This record gives sequence, C-alpha cells and structure tokens, in this order.
Amino acid sequence: MPNRAKIAIIGAGAVGAACAYACMLRRVPAELIMVDVVESTLEGQVLDLSDANFLTPMQVSKGTNKEAGQCNVIIITAGVKQRDANEPRSELIMTHDMQLIERNYKVLKSIIDGMQPIRKDAILMLVSNPVDVLAFLAHKISGLPHSQVIGSGTFLDSMRLRGILAHQLGMSENALHCYVMGEHGDRQFVGWSSASVGCVRLCDHPAMRGVDLDAIEQQVMRKAYDIIERKGATCFGIGACVASLCDTILNDLRDVRPISCWSEEHQCYVSRPAVVGLDGVHAILDLVLNEKEQERLNKAVQSIQASCQTCDK
Ligand code: LAC
Repeated sequence: MPNRAKIAIIGAGAVGAACAYACMLRRVPAELIMVDVVESTLEGQVLDLSDANFLTPMQVSKGTNKEAGQCNVIIITAGVKQRDANEPRSELIMTHDMQLIERNYKVLKSIIDGMQPIRKDAILMLVSNPVDVLAFLAHKISGLPHSQVIGSGTFLDSMRLRGILAHQLGMSENALHCYVMGEHGDRQFVGWSSASVGCVRLCDHPAMRGVDLDAIEQQVMRKAYDIIERKGATCFGIGACVASLCDTILNDLRDVRPISCWSEEHQCYVSRPAVVGLDGVHAILDLVLNEKEQERLNKAVQSIQASCQTCDK
C-alpha cells in the first residue's frame, strides 16, 4: 500500500511478537516488519501473526536491519533478558560483569549500525532493559535527536498503578491521572502529590483514606518479578504500551505518556510524563514533585547516570 507508515520491531521473541500483535489489534495505521537474527523464529512469528489477518489486516513481514532503518517507528526489543526474578531490571547492566555491559552495548550497536542510514524523522523506541540506560546509548549510537529516541520507561508501571487504583476507587482507569516516574526498575516512584482522579486530588478521595501508598508502590514494582517468577518474562503489558505509543506517534495524537526521555537538566534519560506525537517527544511536562519525590527522582537519576557512565564510550 503506497505511503503507508512503517513500523519495525527488532527482536522476534515473546516481547517483539506481543508488540506486533498489540499493534495489529489496535489497528495502528502502518505496515510492520519484524527483524531477528534467528531466521526460524522470525519466520515462525510472521507466519503465526498472519493467521490473525482475518481479524485485523495489518501486513506483517520479515525484514532486515537495513529496511528497519527506513521505517517511521523502530522498536528495539532485542537484548539480554533479566536472568531471573531476583535480578533487578534497572541494575541489569550493573549486576553483571563488564562482558555483559559490552554485550548489551555491542548488541545495540550492531543493530543500529546495521540500520544506517536511518531516516531522518524516524522515532527510535527502546523496550529492552535497562530501558533508561539503553535509550541513552541508542541516542549516542544512532545520532538521532534526543526527541526522536525514547524508551518505554515507566509507562507500563504507570498502567499497573492505574489498574490497582481503578479497582480501589471502583472507577475507570481513564479517570486517573497518576504517574510512576524515575527509572523503570527498583528506583521508580509514584508522583502521589500530583495524582488526581477527575478534578480531585487522588489522596483526598474518600476511597483512598487509610490506603497504604507504599504498599501500592511495592505491588507495582513487584508485578514484573511476580510474572517472571511464574512464566519467565513479561510481554503482553509492554506490548500494549508499545502499541499505544505507536498509535499516538503515527496519528500525532500528542497523548501524555510516562516514557524514558532525555532530561537536559540531568543529562540523562529518565522516565517522566511527556507529550508524544509524530515528532517523538513533542513537549515535556514540568514535574510537580514534593520534597520526598524530588529526592527519589534524584536517586533514580544517580542510578541511571552511574550505569550510563559504565557504558559510555
Ligand atoms: C516489565 C518489563 C517490561 O516491567 O521490564 O514487565
């Protein structure tokens, strides 16, 4: 189909396939190519996804890194998974020896170098963990502007939080404006002081009286580990988040999404609410944090900066 937008998903594992399937079901206006180094996995996923075409006509085909470089949105899900539920996502790069840091960097570099020249207006979206660090590295390697390199960040954590709160309040998740910020990992935090439901401060809502906010934060942070303990990896939640981001990018919806994006102030990628559209990060919303939240943001930034310095070439 002429002039139809194109999405590339690098990595045809469970996460990549879930991203593709979610984009199909959401009817994101694009064609989709999948790339993977394991040809049989790649062909199997593409064949399997084609069986859903009676439900949603998005064309999915296998492609190369070179072809991916010419796509409008390039999603990188390939990389080294968490070893097990005991390994923190955000310190993945820090809990291993230098060889793994090199491998993470080399995997990313070989993928992005293989795409070059990348189309000037491409949006590069990192999903692999530690996502905040890999978004930083992907920007450096790709040469794309900061606004065009993003990470899924704490989007999924924020949707996990809204699911818990929607149940607590007996309301739709759409009525809740609350964000997990900082780092997609153990130094994430909830911006409770700016959270609202409708036009009411969330913490002032009667249903929140006596609710243990720290327990909710822990439940959100533990969700990934709880899933990994049982099935080895997570995929459907992140797939839904990626499809939502592709939708807001390709339709230029300018939704507010908590993603990993460049912070000029901190000189690193950190997860916080941003306006996302066809140009990637269209605008950044000023954070309204109380003193405790500011401290937690600083700790998250320090952790991300330390990891980035370890890999910075
Ligand atoms: C999770 C993975 C995407 O939080 O880090 O499920």
